[in-house]
Amino acid sequence: FEVAWDASAAEKGGWSSFMVKEITEQPEAVAKTLLGRAVDGEVHLQELEAIGADALKDVERIVIVGAGTANYSGLLAKYAIEAWTRIPVEVELSHEFRYRDPILTPNTLVVSISQSGETMDTLMAVKYASENGARTLSICNTQGATIPRESDAVVYTHAGPEVAVASTKAFVAQVVALYLLGLHLATVRGSMSAAAIADVVEDLQQLPEQMETVLKQHETITQLAGWMADTRSVLFLGRHVGFPVALEGALKLKEIAYIHAEGFAAGELKHGPIALIEPGVPVFVVVPSPRDPDSLHKKVVSNIQEIRARGARVLVIAEQGDAAVLPYADVVIPVPLASKFMEPLLAVIPLQIFALELASAKGLDVDQPRNLAKSVTVE
Ligand code: G6P
Repeated sequence: FEVAWDASAAEKGGWSSFMVKEITEQPEAVAKTLLGRAVDGEVHLQELEAIGADALKDVERIVIVGAGTANYSGLLAKYAIEAWTRIPVEVELSHEFRYRDPILTPNTLVVSISQSGETMDTLMAVKYASENGARTLSICNTQGATIPRESDAVVYTHAGPEVAVASTKAFVAQVVALYLLGLHLATVRGSMSAAAIADVVEDLQQLPEQMETVLKQHETITQLAGWMADTRSVLFLGRHVGFPVALEGALKLKEIAYIHAEGFAAGELKHGPIALIEPGVPVFVVVPSPRDPDSLHKKVVSNIQEIRARGARVLVIAEQGDAAVLPYADVVIPVPLASKFMEPLLAVIPLQIFALELASAKGLDVDQPRNLAKSVTVE
C-alpha cells in the first residue's frame, strides 16, 4: 500500500495553483507588512535607523528602481510619497538606471524593490548607486537575500513566500511598504500633520478587509474570463494611481495568458492609442472614485464614452455605487469605497484574477508561464 505524495500539491494547501493561493493571501500580506510598523496612528520603521534620522531629513531626491511588477509598485507609490513628503521621486527600470550615468549625491536615496532580492538587473543598480555615493534602501520579500545585504537598510515586506512566477501578493506588500516609507519620511521631516498621518494609517488598516470584499467577486471575473478565452488583444486604461494599475493588469495578462496587452494613461488616449480602438476590442478602465475632488473621475468617464462610441467592449473597475459609468460599461466590477491612494490596491485584484482565469480557461500553467523565471539572476 502506497500513499501518493505530491509535495507541490501539499504546499498549495488545496488550492489549484500557487497564483490563486497567493492572490487570496493578499489581505494577510498587507496586514503582516503593517504589523508593528503602523501603530496608534503613527508609523515607525525601525529599520531606517541604519540610515539615520539626520540623513533622512537631508534626502533631496528619491530614485526607485526595480524590474517588472516591482517597477510598477514604485510607479504607484511615487504619487503618494511625493504628496506626503514633497520630495521629488523618480521611478526607473533598474537596467536602464544603471547604464545611463545617473546623477547621484549623498542626498539621493535609491530605493530598490525586489520580491526575490536576487534580480541581477536590480542588484547591479544598487551596487552602482552605493559606489557612486547615494544611500540605498531595499524593499524586499526574501530574508537575507543579496540585494538587502548590499543595501544600507532594508524594509522587508512580509507577504510570505511567493512561488507563482507572476507576482501578486508581493506587489501589494511592496506598495504598502513604500507607503510606510513615505509616512515615516513625512513624520521625520514634518511634512504632514499627525492627524493626516493617522488618517492614512487608518486607511491602510482597513485595506485587508476591503480586499476580502473584492476577492468575493472571483466567480464573476472567472465567468468574464471564460467568455473572453479567444481574445487576442486587451487594452487597459487608468489615470493617476490607476495608471500603474493599468500597466500591471496588462503585464499579468502578457505573462500568464500570452495575450497581447497594453496599459495606457487614460489622458494619453487621444494622443495615439485611440487609433487602436475598433469594434469589439476589450478595454479595461480603472475609474477613480466619483468623490475625487480633482474631477479626474469626469475625465475618465469621458474617455469611456469616447472608446464606447468607437465600439470598444468596456470593462470597468469602479467604486461601488458609481452610477456615472453604468450607461457606457459592458461589465462593471465594483470595489469598496476607499481613499485615493488605497483605491489602486483594490482595483488591481480583479485584474490579477482576470489574468489567472483567462490563462486557466486557455489551459495554461499559470504558475510557470513559458519563457519566464521567478527570479532572473542574469543581466
Ligand atoms: C521576473 C519575474 C517578474 C518579476 C521580476 C522582478 O522577471 O518574472 O514577475 O516582477 O522578475 O522580480 P523581483 O524578484 O526583483 O521582484
